[in-house]
Amino acid sequence: MLFNTLSRRFLGLAAVFLVIVEAFFFVPAVSRFRESYLQNQLELSQQAALAVLGMPGDMPAPELEKQLLANADVLTIALRRADLRELALTVPEPRRVAQTYDLTTASRIQLARAAMRVFLVPRNRVIQVIGRARQSSNIIEITMWEGPLRIAMARYALRILITSLLISGGVAILMYLAVRWFIVRPVRRVIANMMHYRDNPEDAGRVIVPKSGAAELREAENALRDLQVQLTALLRQKDRLAQLGGAVAKISHDLRNLLTTAQLLADRIEMSSDPAVKRSAPKLVNSLSRAIALCERTLTFGRAEEPPPTFETVLLAPLIEEVVHNECLLAGGEVSIRAEAGPEVTARADADQLFRVLTNLVRNAAQAIDGAAGPGEVVVSARRDDAGAEITVRDTGPGLPPKARENLFQPFRGGARQGGSGLGLVIAAEIVKGHGGSLTLASTGPDGTTFRIHLPDNS
Ligand SMILES: Nc1ncnc2c1ncn2[C@@H]1O[C@H](COP(=O)(O)OP(=O)(O)OP(=O)(O)O)[C@@H](O)[C@H]1O
Ligand SMILES: [Mg+2]
Repeated sequence: MLFNTLSRRFLGLAAVFLVIVEAFFFVPAVSRFRESYLQNQLELSQQAALAVLGMPGDMPAPELEKQLLANADVLTIALRRADLRELALTVPEPRRVAQTYDLTTASRIQLARAAMRVFLVPRNRVIQVIGRARQSSNIIEITMWEGPLRIAMARYALRILITSLLISGGVAILMYLAVRWFIVRPVRRVIANMMHYRDNPEDAGRVIVPKSGAAELREAENALRDLQVQLTALLRQKDRLAQLGGAVAKISHDLRNLLTTAQLLADRIEMSSDPAVKRSAPKLVNSLSRAIALCERTLTFGRAEEPPPTFETVLLAPLIEEVVHNECLLAGGEVSIRAEAGPEVTARADADQLFRVLTNLVRNAAQAIDGAAGPGEVVVSARRDDAGAEITVRDTGPGLPPKARENLFQPFRGGARQGGSGLGLVIAAEIVKGHGGSLTLASTGPDGTTFRIHLPDNS
């Protein structure tokens, strides 16, 4: 394809536009040439006529008359002075006039049309021209052959045609080169970078360095750079997540084996003769069973996503009590954790998953109070409304640090605690979302933080 590149298309268009512009020039230029040619004839004719009319006896010798007419290149000359028409000079056999042009009354458009008609009537015919000589009030009428005028006009037209074609061609080529240099070259550079980047998007060294001086291209390059930086970061994170996924699968596998052994030991504790030890055994067995189930599910799915919940109607008070009890064992002495849930409050949920959500939230709260090295309280409360259950975890800790607030619920990014992985809140939010509910940060500040879980009934 001849015009399949941007620069060639531009070249073609420039040539077409220049030809159109030239055409607008061409007609007036040729018309003006004809006008000045005829004017020149009129001037010469007036000189000849005045010379003859000034002679004694008004009649020149035929030889001189012929000479004067040939000199002005006309057939007859008549002069109109003060409304009197005087035939000054004429050839022996005057020809029939094919067309009369009155330059004194013709408009520019009529003159242009007459000029173009010269080329359309190729016959050599006799025309009459009426006009006024410069700096004189005399009207001159001449008859002349149109042939020499046509030849002169054709030569002139050819000359301006060649000149304008040369100018158009030159301008079009310069524009072609300019487009190649200023548009095509930088666009090619961007395309080359895109292809280079595509081959290995994880290589940050391939991200484009914006260089273009043109504002639009610079904008495109900046946008591309941002896109590439984001994509490279995401791909790297994806890589890390995949590695982490593999590690989690391995850990889950071995942890399950260890926990199964621990479960067997817990079963034995149940048979202990000490009543205090015997009482704590069911809780230990419960915790171990949950841990084993979690490992198994992680292994089955082999990915970070949570499996769909198994819904049941859960009595919240005992579940919250268990979380509180477990977390109390872990928390430092300065932290008090308590439950505030009526014995009849229920929720439609997966008990094990909800247990994990609350464990994460309560543990975060306890850790925050511990980290601030002050006494504090964590309260887990539950209530019901028509649409479902609402659980709040409220603490009197120092509030979410800015990093955690800005990256709330974003894996790995929100972690602002030493030793934390920044996954706890993400897991909690994902589980609640899987229930069709929502986990929101209700408030946070130096007086404490409140997270709210809403679990709808109709999921
Ligand atoms: N109740 C809270 N009070 C103050 N800061 C909190 C609270 N809950 C969470 N945070 C902040 O939010 C961050 C993110 O919490 P998240 O549970 O997602 O990760 P983590 O606790 O750092 O690590 P892990 O994945 O082991 O739980 C925490 O590092 C902590 O700084
Ligand atoms: Mg946490």
